[in-house]
Amino acid sequence: MSAIGNESLKDFARQRHLESLTPQSLRAIVAGRTGYSVARAQRFLAFRSRIDRELLCHRTIRANRYTAWFREGRQSLEQVRAFIVQFSVFSNQFLVAQLQKVINADSLAGMRASKEILANEIGVVFQSGRKAAAVTDPDREGDPELVSTDGTVDGGVFRFRAAHFEWLLHIAEKLGLDFNDVGKRHHATPSTLFFCDELIRLYGSEEYLTSQAASFAVENWAAAGFWKELIEGLTRFNEGSGMNLPLAFFTWHDRLEAQHARHTQEELEKLWFERDVDEDCFIRDGNCMLDGVAAFWDGLDAQRRQLPSA
Ligand SMILES: [Fe+2]
Repeated sequence: MSAIGNESLKDFARQRHLESLTPQSLRAIVAGRTGYSVARAQRFLAFRSRIDRELLCHRTIRANRYTAWFREGRQSLEQVRAFIVQFSVFSNQFLVAQLQKVINADSLAGMRASKEILANEIGVVFQSGRKAAAVTDPDREGDPELVSTDGTVDGGVFRFRAAHFEWLLHIAEKLGLDFNDVGKRHHATPSTLFFCDELIRLYGSEEYLTSQAASFAVENWAAAGFWKELIEGLTRFNEGSGMNLPLAFFTWHDRLEAQHARHTQEELEKLWFERDVDEDCFIRDGNCMLDGVAAFWDGLDAQRRQLPSA
């Protein structure tokens, strides 16, 4: 039972112009938790508007030229191959960034939250608490069409086949690429490498607030709809080419992001109320991270223009 009912919480928020705050923060203010007050909440909302104006309007969130083209589904086999190769490098280098985030966590809870992502990425299936449908075909253990997008890796089962890289590898193989054609730094374009290194530097930063700003930026980018654009494009490509590439790597991540998006605001509020956030630094680091993301997509866009089109 909460100390205050939902209706009174809404009244409390309305009277103080705090309607856009999450119920978690409102409850913390009512309860007088350390760091939480009406005055600080009002300053947070001013910061939140600044984030909308100065960070979330970044072109990589608002308008992504590459995914807008990709979504039309008119890519040639060479262009799809090149895309999968660059994505596979990002997928592997993300492990390095995520491991740094684990190591640089400044609390046990933070370390565990980062390990959830890392362990899941390398193949530990989330335990969602719901009873999963029994997988009778051993070939489908770890299949992204079947594994959960929520829950915890604690007590979860490790499957080689549940590694996200292996999901990508299936697509690569269908495209005629071998294990050694994907995933390594030497397969990357300079733009992809710049992005991966920015992820390691910022998302995996030793500075807690830098890593949080980069996480916030990355999560907002991921929730902005690029997964859906990639899925649409690949679905059309499959229809046109009759190739039947497995898309579950993409549909799984799209489902995952739909859940993350709900938590992003809660996490930002928690950070702001419980830490001393330097607003200018947060916006600067967030933008640096999004510039890295933009470099990745710009690199893909430049590369596809040099390849034979369909
Ligand atoms: Fe992943």
